[in-house]
Amino acid sequence: MRHLINLLNLNEDEFFGILKRGREHAANRRLNPDVLRDKIIALIFEKSSTRTRISFSVAIRELGGSDLEMQAGSLQLGRGETIEDTTMVLGRYVHGVMIRTDSHRKLELMAGLDQVPIINGLSDRHHPCQALADFMTITETGRDLSKTRIAFIGEPNNVFNSLALGTLHSGSSLCVASPEGYEIRPGIQELLRKRNKTIDVYRDPVEAVRQADVIYTDVWISMGQEGEAEIRKKDFAPYSVNEALMKHAPADAIVMHCLPAHRGEEISGDVMDRHAATIFRQAENRLHVQKALLEWIYEAI
Ligand code: CP
Ligand code: NVA
Repeated sequence: MRHLINLLNLNEDEFFGILKRGREHAANRRLNPDVLRDKIIALIFEKSSTRTRISFSVAIRELGGSDLEMQAGSLQLGRGETIEDTTMVLGRYVHGVMIRTDSHRKLELMAGLDQVPIINGLSDRHHPCQALADFMTITETGRDLSKTRIAFIGEPNNVFNSLALGTLHSGSSLCVASPEGYEIRPGIQELLRKRNKTIDVYRDPVEAVRQADVIYTDVWISMGQEGEAEIRKKDFAPYSVNEALMKHAPADAIVMHCLPAHRGEEISGDVMDRHAATIFRQAENRLHVQKALLEWIYEAI
């Protein structure tokens, strides 16, 4: 049984196979319209979502399946039923579960039971579906992933972690610029070290963008961090991807954002507008690449 908890659930061939298949889905919205026939996939949310819930819902329907969306708070989970018991029950009703959760541990427990394929729709640690769409978007610009330098400006959180694991397959180079106190998680550092992957860490965002092909940013205040909003806005203020920073980047560098964006914080409105084609393409590619991912989950590619 296949699960996607983080990008290490894929090998390099599967990673590139999903990106290629995602591009085929992008070229033809009607590709493989029956592959999920008679399959019902639960979409469970412990946190808000626009792109993930809608792109999965549309992807499942366009592949001939049915989606069943629910807020975790409306399940008995919210009243203390364990995630293990919930998974045992779900496995008797549905053919797959995509869950957005505040605890990566829950995903590991769910997948560990091997009752039903589990897909990570964002956790506090990883956002693999987003990274797949991002790498697919970079390939669409004609860039060779193995020669692409990605500069991540902001907190090395879930989105960064998935990009980092993705570079283990893609061979892209990755650096990060973040304020003191917002470092790469030790577990991710350890994992990268074991695979001889070096990530340059900068305090100065100017240094990070100097030779970048891709400049990537994410919100300063992730879901669940709202209580730290004031201190985070202060700490991250020098890390805005704005025109002043872009002056130090190569002229042909592209800017990427997983969205939702906070214009005037992690990205200025003018930079966002100038790079809107790339940024909204990333959002669109969630649909196409998740179709490819669903085909992989059910061993149809
Ligand atoms: N990028 C992303 O996952 O968006 P949502 O939070 O809207 O799903
Ligand atoms: N880091 C952000 C990503 C949103 C898609 C969050 O966790 O809220």
